[in-house]
Amino acid sequence: MSKPKVYITRMVDEKYLEAYRDQLDIRMWEKADEPVSRETLYKELADADALFTVLSDAVDEDLLSKAPRLKIVANMAVGYDNIDLEACRKYNVAAANTPDVLSETTADLGFSLMMATARRIVEADAWVKQDKWQSWAPFFFAGTDIYGKTLGIVGMGRIGEAIAKRATGFDMNIQYHNRSRKKEAEEQLHAKYVSFEELLKTSDFVMTVVPHTKETDKLFNQAAFEKMKSSAIFINISRGKVVDEDALANALKTGEIQAAGLDVFEEEPIRADHPLVSLDNTVCIPHIGSASVETRAKMVQLCMDNILAVVSGKEAITPVS
Ligand code: DGY
Repeated sequence: MSKPKVYITRMVDEKYLEAYRDQLDIRMWEKADEPVSRETLYKELADADALFTVLSDAVDEDLLSKAPRLKIVANMAVGYDNIDLEACRKYNVAAANTPDVLSETTADLGFSLMMATARRIVEADAWVKQDKWQSWAPFFFAGTDIYGKTLGIVGMGRIGEAIAKRATGFDMNIQYHNRSRKKEAEEQLHAKYVSFEELLKTSDFVMTVVPHTKETDKLFNQAAFEKMKSSAIFINISRGKVVDEDALANALKTGEIQAAGLDVFEEEPIRADHPLVSLDNTVCIPHIGSASVETRAKMVQLCMDNILAVVSGKEAITPVS
């Protein structure tokens, strides 16, 4: 009997795939830094049983309609706003993501971005490397303290909780806003539940971890930035589309807020002439929330395990509901 066919939309090192080769016929887009073309995808999907996607692949009705044998889309991300779930249901294709395995790593990144922004690490590094360091002065590269400050986390899922855990070690006051109350986080991490408005008004750091949905689209808009303290630092490690980027750029220019650390953008990849990149009070990084070698290996493995489960007639291990 022939093995189920899997197509992977980005190059993945063979060492992560070899364990699956005796059960699956694996093909792959052989480029790591360039997305697969739509034409190639159409061709590959003509006989594929499973599709392994990354977050920049749009899985829509058009694509699914060209995949007569497809049983599963396994997305190498916890976020799945690139997948049309309605269309998946219509074509009876399961969708899976990679939750849990990336929570701690993504929380590390969120915290790093907060620290880099507050303590002006990137600017200071550039200063030294551009050979501009001449002397020391009392307020030379003086940033903002993190310890003892109030961190407002918007979206208290697994990543939000992992961020709160780190913040307790920095003696931060933790408050959060979420669709539902998280009593355990309140008890164990001393996180205080507040309304969205209260969080915006009273946090020194506002970190967003909410997924992008109809409800969270441009949640951080002009009105939201106007409510924040002028000393507030905004951190986004969720999705760019939860922010109105023009409003954010304006808030940073006019001093409505102090700074922003951004891992994600409305349209990715962004270019160096993007309005948020040219500002001195932003730190911009290229969507690397879960990018540690250990975690990316676990994400690949979970995608492959989800695929193996579904093509063997079982439920996905981590289905998207
Ligand atoms: C995800 O998994 O959704 C993250 O954005 C990846 O870094």
